[in-house]
Amino acid sequence: MEEAKAFYGRVGFSDVRFDYTGHVPGPDREARVVMLSNPGATPVGPGGIKLVQVLDGDGPPPEPPGGGWGELGITEICLHARGVTGVHKALVAAGAESLMEPLTAAVQPNDVSLDIAYVADPWGGKLELIEWTGLWHSLPGPDRAEGVNHVAFGVKDMARTRAFYEELGFTEMLFESTEFFEPMAPWYPYGPPDQHMIMMLSSQGAGIEPVVLDPEGPDCRGEWGHIGPFDFGIGVASLERGVEALHALGVETGEAVTLDDGRGGQWRYASFRDPDDLYVTLVEARY
Ligand SMILES: [Fe+2]
Repeated sequence: MEEAKAFYGRVGFSDVRFDYTGHVPGPDREARVVMLSNPGATPVGPGGIKLVQVLDGDGPPPEPPGGGWGELGITEICLHARGVTGVHKALVAAGAESLMEPLTAAVQPNDVSLDIAYVADPWGGKLELIEWTGLWHSLPGPDRAEGVNHVAFGVKDMARTRAFYEELGFTEMLFESTEFFEPMAPWYPYGPPDQHMIMMLSSQGAGIEPVVLDPEGPDCRGEWGHIGPFDFGIGVASLERGVEALHALGVETGEAVTLDDGRGGQWRYASFRDPDDLYVTLVEARY
């Protein structure tokens, strides 16, 4: 955890908002959970990062094997960046491995331009860097990572996932792609699959990027707390109201949990069942 905090601190997530060690209901594990935010967060890079170190059993479960990108499970965290090239270079200097050198692309149907690069963090988790040059002009200043822009996850049925998350407020489609993104080709141990991906945004907050692969590849959901990206949370102002809203939509939730870190921070969450049984929570951050 200390190494991960130091790494993400160097990427800009220097603000430790919550730091808890103990029982985590829901997954029913002993774990240390640290919430980090980036003081340079912006409207297109608003999201924070949660680090989890499982402490019981054999410790952190290993990353599910055999995946490339977009198999069932959480597949990447994307940071918005001012100056993708400079941030990519800084990440590699901080111990990340380059997975894709910076390049410029555009996504359809609105021809939105972007700069993009990928690294693996020191634990192998894929971190994408994007500057949405066709969408948002970053604030002035040096190259830097902002907060999380989106999370990508593999699903089985795009229409079903889209309908589900639209009901949760992810109604604005930034792009849809059915073209294989060629720079990702070296990542797939079983050969490049067909890719169908969309990005859905809500009116505020980070976005979601569901992906369907053909062939679908291995199931990479893994155990809660495994090494690499494994879950995401959707922020709500009131956990009770959020749970009520999900129940009104017929979505099952786990119990509402409040964890206190003893330093004034409270993490309130309830897990819910998304169509692919991914680890997803509603989060009311009191930190
Ligand atoms: Fe992405």
